[in-house]
Amino acid sequence: MSEKGTQWIEKKDGVYWPSEKMKEKAFVSDPGIYREAKENPKEFWAERAKELIDWFDDDWNYIQKWNPPFFRWFEGATTNLSYNCIDRHIDDKKDKPAIIWEPEPLDEEKKVLTYGDLHREVQKFANVLKELGVEKGDAVTFWMPMIPETAVAALACQRIGAWHSIVYTAFSPEAVRKRMDDAGSKMLITADGFYRRGKAVELKDRINGALEKVDAESCIVVNRADLEPEMVDGRDHFLSNLKDSVDQSCEAEELDAEDIGFLLYTSGTTGKPKGIKHSVGGYMVQAALSMKWVFDFHDDDIFYSTADIGWITGHTYTLYGPLIHGGTTVWYEGSPDYPNLERWWEIIEENEATQFYTAPTALRMLVKMGKDLPDKHDLSSLRILGSVGEPIDPETWEWYFNKVGGGRCPIVDTYWQTETGGILLTSLPGMGPFVPGVAGVPLPPVNYDILDERAEPTDKGAVVIKEPFSPGMLRGVYKSPDKYKEEYWSRYGDKIYFSGDEGIVTEYEVGGQKLLKIVGRMDDLLEVAGHRLGTAELEDAVQTVDEVAEVAVVGKPHDVKGEVPALFVMLIEGAEPSDGLKDSIVKAVRREVGPVATPGEIYFVNDLPETESGKVIRRFLRSLLEDEELGDMRTAKNPECLKELAEKVGYSGPQEIPGYSS
Ligand code: PRX
Repeated sequence: MSEKGTQWIEKKDGVYWPSEKMKEKAFVSDPGIYREAKENPKEFWAERAKELIDWFDDDWNYIQKWNPPFFRWFEGATTNLSYNCIDRHIDDKKDKPAIIWEPEPLDEEKKVLTYGDLHREVQKFANVLKELGVEKGDAVTFWMPMIPETAVAALACQRIGAWHSIVYTAFSPEAVRKRMDDAGSKMLITADGFYRRGKAVELKDRINGALEKVDAESCIVVNRADLEPEMVDGRDHFLSNLKDSVDQSCEAEELDAEDIGFLLYTSGTTGKPKGIKHSVGGYMVQAALSMKWVFDFHDDDIFYSTADIGWITGHTYTLYGPLIHGGTTVWYEGSPDYPNLERWWEIIEENEATQFYTAPTALRMLVKMGKDLPDKHDLSSLRILGSVGEPIDPETWEWYFNKVGGGRCPIVDTYWQTETGGILLTSLPGMGPFVPGVAGVPLPPVNYDILDERAEPTDKGAVVIKEPFSPGMLRGVYKSPDKYKEEYWSRYGDKIYFSGDEGIVTEYEVGGQKLLKIVGRMDDLLEVAGHRLGTAELEDAVQTVDEVAEVAVVGKPHDVKGEVPALFVMLIEGAEPSDGLKDSIVKAVRREVGPVATPGEIYFVNDLPETESGKVIRRFLRSLLEDEELGDMRTAKNPECLKELAEKVGYSGPQEIPGYSS
């Protein structure tokens, strides 16, 4: 019987809860699970590991070994992510759609890859990798768009135990080069280009220069847009020329649960991106559990996540999560506003998607520019809506809930990070409650807390994770154990993971736990349109411009993107501010990091507020931009510079700044 239009939630005491129908349908609906899981957390994970994934050998040496701050899970047992995503479904689901791919151009047909297709293509691709010398434990960098070959290539790496390191296509060739260098990657997989907003965007031709610098041994190119890129003989190969001449079968490698599954570079507090290491076994168990429970993912569901594969959400929920369960995932190549702002609603309607997962920044754009457009589409197939990447403001939440979900569907506001591998905190569909702007409670049996500076529990403070952890947490920072310790395990000692976020304990409760609201980053990271960027990385990029003496980057509030990078730039003596110079700075950022980091505002200033030891006090810069109280200005050794800064940004906040009147 069709479930279209079912009322999945109800309102009680001003808050939304699952309806009886949802409770009946959901895999988990008894809040007792939170307490039960905590009683024996290791056993909880061991049972999930056996229940949710297939192992070649499940005789692990131990469930978890904890040598703070390093931990290992299920070591000694063997499995393979490609096997779990494909082979184990092949007997029953050969003809079932695994990936439904929607190209951006409207005159192109959508493509469906069945489990049978995936099985065939992934084996071929795996043999192509082997033929080109890729072995277990080698890093392979991707600069790939949202096309089916990207999924095939990722699964092929998993099949032979190579580590993919996927770089988002809106990062620059220079950013790809740095990540290839750090990972020691000898191979790049890319495409000639792809379609975005109606135009073919080049990839291969733009990366040729960077490839020379990293001494890449080989480059596989997928022909997507017939752009006829320049190819270097012996190094560059079109996939189509290789894949039919290799052996057509390739068994999945038996990998240890603690082998590395993949690397994913993310921004940290220094200028250098960090290669986050994820394991084969633990990551898979957590991806499988969160997919099933958070999205209440059933066999006949059609899951649509708009997250690009270049981010962790793309890895865990656009690709692996749905396939681990033998489900169907929808991939869209292009932009939500092409050819108009109805594209996503059309894709949901056309494919009868049951879950829709996206980021608040995109929703804010859709509210602003097309708030009634969902009304033109039948979105009654939807059962669960998801939000990720940044806090969702209550207004956008209400719009998403009413216009997209028709007031019928819960919104799971999922809080997690590249480092956690999968969702670790949200309200679950069968239990709720769903409160606008409030993320929820930790997934059982994970233990989140909010701590003050003295490590005491508080109502507003740092978001941390204490034991028990999840097996899907990062296994380290590639080649930098010190960075791993310093960034996550130093603020509160080596047994408490510091997320970098600030959170608030709310009055809402489920299963004996209070729901948490996530406020945002406490450190120098930006979330621009849901994309995580490091201020240090941007500052290094700006410093490549000769005329720049010093620069400080902070986030400036933006009504669609959440925040945009604002640059406070001091010039060297003799250099004059000009539009030309602004242009050079924008170009440098786009070249070094990519268009994703394009500055929203550039202020040329004569001085920056600094501590006695010469550290820029960003807090002042942020407060000036947000028209907030600055606090004690004497913490700067040069408070007189604040007058000029206030003038430049047009400060209209409450604090009196000597010499400045707004
Ligand atoms: O600040 C938090 C924010 O995104 C950061 C993690 O970014 P990244 O590693 O790129 O992963 C994004 C996708 C998981 C977090 O430290 N964040 C993520 N989800 C939420 C969020 N902030 C508030 N609410 C969320 N639901």
